[in-house]
Amino acid sequence: IDTGRFTFGVLTMSDKGSRGEREDTSGPYLLKTLNDLGYQQKAYAVIPDKAKGITETLISWVDEQKVDLILTTGGTGVAPTDVTPEAMADVIEKEIPGMAEAMRAESLKKTPHAVLSRGIAGIRGNSLIINLPGSEKAARENIAVLLPSLAHALDKIK
Ligand code: MTE
Repeated sequence: IDTGRFTFGVLTMSDKGSRGEREDTSGPYLLKTLNDLGYQQKAYAVIPDKAKGITETLISWVDEQKVDLILTTGGTGVAPTDVTPEAMADVIEKEIPGMAEAMRAESLKKTPHAVLSRGIAGIRGNSLIINLPGSEKAARENIAVLLPSLAHALDKIK
């Protein structure tokens, strides 16, 4: 499957990042990884951990910009400010539990803290949205689990 057929975006959720108080390294890592695999970069943003803004951005990227694959990073944990999965509930039409299950199962081999990520994956329209945890290490370890099935999933969804 030609990965060049698919566009992608990376959305980083970080209150500090959005204020310029912390450099986002997870987002750039994901951009480079997908670019290197041949996917076409279409969007990147760092926004605050606010459900409304997250929902609006995701819907706009899917419905207006027609981004085929959106990777989000951050806001999946259990802190009061972590609302990425709640925002997703208003965005996706179908959930893909196996993707999140696989990421948590594999992550658990690396850290017991893996159980704290509440990230989900799902489909809106003809787009796939995947929540990844926020640290660069966590984002790297989680996306690695899904990279082998990504192009096939996108081919089916489109
Ligand atoms: N998964 C992997 N593979 N590696 C990690 O280091 N960190 C965990 C978890 N998942 C981690 C991981 C931690 S410490 C937290 S708090 C949760 O992801 C949620 O992260 P988030 O709130 O930044 O989204």
